[in-house]
Formats: sequence, C-alpha cells, structure tokens
Amino acid sequence: MAVPGDKSISHRALILNAIASGRGTVSGLLESADVQSTRRCLRQLGVTIQGSTVHGRNGRLSPPQGALDCGNSGTTSRLLLGVLASQAFSAQVVGDESLQQRPMARVTDPLSTMGARFRSASGRLPITVTGGALQCGSSQLAVASAQVKSALLIAGLLGEGTLEVTEPRMSRDHTEIMLAAMGVRIDRVRMPNGEHRVTLQGGQDFEARTFSVPGDISSAAFFIVAATIIPGSDVLLEGVGLNPSRTGILDVLTRMGADISITDERVSCGERVGTIRIRHAELVGTTVDDSDIPRMIDEIPVLGVAAAFASGVTTVKDAAELRVKESDRCAQTVDLVRRMGRNCDEQADGFAVEGLANCDAKGFTFDAGLDHRMAMAAAVAGLRSESGVTVLGMNSIQTSFPDFTSTLEALYG
Ligand code: S3P
Repeated sequence: MAVPGDKSISHRALILNAIASGRGTVSGLLESADVQSTRRCLRQLGVTIQGSTVHGRNGRLSPPQGALDCGNSGTTSRLLLGVLASQAFSAQVVGDESLQQRPMARVTDPLSTMGARFRSASGRLPITVTGGALQCGSSQLAVASAQVKSALLIAGLLGEGTLEVTEPRMSRDHTEIMLAAMGVRIDRVRMPNGEHRVTLQGGQDFEARTFSVPGDISSAAFFIVAATIIPGSDVLLEGVGLNPSRTGILDVLTRMGADISITDERVSCGERVGTIRIRHAELVGTTVDDSDIPRMIDEIPVLGVAAAFASGVTTVKDAAELRVKESDRCAQTVDLVRRMGRNCDEQADGFAVEGLANCDAKGFTFDAGLDHRMAMAAAVAGLRSESGVTVLGMNSIQTSFPDFTSTLEALYG
C-alpha cells in the first residue's frame, strides 16, 4: 500500500518554489489540512498556485489581505515567519488553539537579531511581523529543530551576508537538500560532538523546480507499529521516504526485535525512497535518547504503543520537546499507555513504559484533543485491545492523514 505524501517536504516544495524564480511543479503533494494552510497563506501573499504548479515570486511577495491563518500547522507558521521577516510589509500570523500554545520565540528571537520586528502578547501566535532588509549572522540553536533551522535558512537566503546555523543534533534536512537542488550553494558540517552546522550566503539566485514528494515515514509509522504488534501481519508500504534524518523509528523498532526489511531503494530528488516490509514480531524494551530523538520526534506517541507490547521496560529520555508539539505529547503518551493498562513513569524529558508482550490492552476512551498523531497512536493501540477503544478528537487526522481511518479499516477492519 502507499502512504500519503511527506508533510515536511510538501510544505517546503510549496514555500521554496514560491520564493524562487521561475515556475516549479510538485508531484505527490500531501492533500491535508496542514498543507492546505500553507497553500492558502501563500495565495494570500500573491503566489499563483495552479494545480501542482507554483509560480515563483523571486523573493518578493505581496502584502496579504487579512491575517495569515496557519491552522494547526507549526511548519507553516515557522517557515512563513522566516519568509515574512524579509518582506517590506507587515502581516499577522495566526493559528488554532493548539498552535497558539506553541513557542515561537525560538524563531522570532534570531530573526529579530537579523533585523525583523515582531509584535505579540506572549511570544506566541498571534504575531505581527514587520519585515525588511535582513543582515545575516550566526545562530546557535538550543534545540534541534528543523522548523527553526529552515526559517533561518529561508530568511538568510533572502537577506545579505553569511548565515550560519548550528543545531545541537542534526534535525531533518529536507530544506538543505531542496535548496541545493534549486541551485543554492549551501555548506554543511557534522561536528565530532554531534552538532550540525549549515552555512549559506544571502542573496543567491535560486530556481523553482520539479519536486516529487515521497510517502511520509511519520504516517507509515502507524502501520509499521500496527503490523509489528498484530499477530499474522505482513504489510508492504511502497514509496516511503527513507531520509536518514527521519528513519529513527525503523532503527529503534529493529533494535526492539521488529521484523522490518527495505527493498527497491532509490534516490528521488535527493531523498532516499524505498519499500518497507513489516511482519509481526515479539518486541523487547529499549532506551531511546538524544542520539535517536531528533530522527523520530513525531513517532514517539506510536513508539509508546509498541513499548506497551514489548517485554521489559522501554525508556524515552532527552525528549522534552515532546511537551511543545501539537499537544504535550509526553503527558499524552503517558496517559495513553496507562489507559492501555500498563505502568508508565512520567519524567520531565520522557517516560518509561513497563510493557507486557502477551497481554492485550484494556478497552479505553482517549481524548486526543487537536493532536493528529495522538489520535492515530490511540487507534493503533485499539487494534490490540480487549474491547476496542473510543478516540475523541479523531477529526484531527485531517491535519496529516485524512484517509487514516479507512486505510486502517481496510487492513485490519
Ligand atoms: C517538522 C519538524 C519537526 C516535526 C514537525 C515537522 C518540519 O518539528 O515535529 O512535525 O517539517 O520541519 P521541529 O523542527 O520543531 O522539531
């Protein structure tokens, strides 16, 4: 089966083509509420998007009518703040209740140093940006965040001077790969201490191009875990993105004993892509720390479900970032695992699950709120529960995987 297009790459294909010169096309774009938010905001900024074709504006957008509503999408809001920082007009960026809780100072502080101005009541959305000529500099990020890194790379490219961004661990590098494909000279260094530094020169020309979006490994992860925990499963997921900065879930599950194999591996638009085969397997607990976390940050909720069916303890640490995602995913995953009938210890930066390999989860009700990944993780847990589960907030799947429920039913209904 195929999984929906990669969400991170879909946002970037639209945004980067919109600020490039010329015309680009995107195939395999994810059709979901988050990507729709990006498309709508870009159109408000004067970008013409016809079907899969984006008409680049060569770095200059138009002042929008009304506020730019990013909905639930952190990537839309943070990458757009990077774009807007360089534009000679003011614009207001808003989002839904979940997005309004999320930290934005991590983006607006370094962009302010470059010369942009931001107004907000609390360092969170709604934020009014007044952009202008930007002067690049060096930024040392406190957390590994591809959204922050990408916002700074975009702003730097539309500014002047040399931009240098250093992150404590390498986060997903789709922006770097795509910018290089668009003709941007971009240098990257992995330091011996694990840091990742990206450098580029502002003011470079770059051209819109054709991007082909692979399947999203973060969406695939729900079926990878489902197939692993459901006896008799043998599932093929085709055309899934296998960028090494995203495949932490495969490495960790394999370490736990999962039966995962990759075939038909190839490179498309600079991104590794392949077919993943998953068969049911017995799991054992493991420890996941900062050497894995940035490569699987969105997969921790569903890892919690896998851990509940592993023998022994699975510990997740160095994952305080979970608390500032679409929900507090640390607290929410702990709640989910406990409702499944497992012991789970909550820590400031993670949790520890005492798994039970041969025991189905209890039946339970779980409120995912506005968090799509919590809703899908709970639904996967329901596949191995004594009396089924009720998931509140299931509509949040519109964010990244509108066909999730029907796909799950087709496989396990
Ligand atoms: C994303 C990066 C990650 C991830 C999010 C998408 C991106 O966030 O959690 O779902 O597209 O760059 P951070 O970069 O803030 O960790």
